Amino acid sequence: MAGYSSGEQPDAQDVIKLNTNENPYPAAPGVAEALAGFDVSSLRRYPPATALDFRNIIANTHGTVAEQIIATRGGDELLRLVITTFVEPGQPITITDPTYSLYPVLSQIHDCPNLIVPLLDDWSLPADFASKANAAQSPLTFLVNPGAPHGKLLPVSTVLEVAEELNGLLLVDEAYVDFVDPDKGYDLLPHINDYPNLILLRTLSKGYSLAGLRLGYGIAQQDLITPMLNKTRDSYNLDAITQKLGVAAIEHRDYAAETWIKVRAERKRLALELTARNFELIPSQTNFLLVTPPADLAAADLYQALKQNGILVRYFDLPRLTNKLRISIGTPDENNQLLRQLDKQLPK
Ligand SMILES: Cc1ncc(COP(=O)(O)O)c(C=O)c1O
Repeated sequence: MAGYSSGEQPDAQDVIKLNTNENPYPAAPGVAEALAGFDVSSLRRYPPATALDFRNIIANTHGTVAEQIIATRGGDELLRLVITTFVEPGQPITITDPTYSLYPVLSQIHDCPNLIVPLLDDWSLPADFASKANAAQSPLTFLVNPGAPHGKLLPVSTVLEVAEELNGLLLVDEAYVDFVDPDKGYDLLPHINDYPNLILLRTLSKGYSLAGLRLGYGIAQQDLITPMLNKTRDSYNLDAITQKLGVAAIEHRDYAAETWIKVRAERKRLALELTARNFELIPSQTNFLLVTPPADLAAADLYQALKQNGILVRYFDLPRLTNKLRISIGTPDENNQLLRQLDKQLPK
């Protein structure tokens, strides 16, 4: 099988890294303080097995209870757990094309084929998405919203219609949800208790600037959370330091929310600047833009030219994504440097 291929993670610190959708701003100072104050002698003991403090603060933030939350080693561990808990080897897992490229890898590890449903040309879901999954007797469907790698947001009503129609589980991967404009009114949380087959994935990697920590969580009705929490989860899946820093990050959520505002503002500006340079793009509700360069520039060449000048963006050599680049939103200065380099490549 082919493993997951992650974006380049260079050691050099002076690279402008716009290739793996990290938050360009550091985590809240309160997280650094929690780390500095961490009592190393406490590592003698095993950590709290189910990360109860972290689950409690998450539950408070979302107006739910800890029994409806599972804390995981990044969102990625939740994906793996959901598969091992609710899917038998051999059963098809439904995904869209394109989607988060880890889904097929995790499916293969569990010996599951994928039912791949192509998104429409405007990256929206085909009307028969759920009926196709039902026809294949698929016990689990993965849907990224707002979507990756294109950034389009499906409205709450569309997601709920899919959940309603599906016979199996629906995991909505909300890795980028913190960057959604508040005026979109997108919030699936109030609907969790009406949909017994709905699981939401969240992560602190993007919104809380903690990709290196590896902390995420799932939200669902208790009947879905309990088997993962009490049966299939690795014993002590989260170390004590991660749990402490996770609590500190959520305590300082307001600080993180300031970074979301800055990223949204830069997303808007960069989209305008790129459009003015004849790049094609669709509105994004994430912290990245999927762009098609103007006709006389090939995405693969542009990717190389940017890389040679110390700017990393993501180029996927895949059928639906040829001649596109996925660019993470950086700081204003990083984005300006990107625009300057692009200007050098554009025909005069
Ligand atoms: C769509 C999507 N889901 C989930 C993740 C997993 O994030 P993490 O494991 O860092 O929480 C990512 C990371 O890039 C992602 O793009």
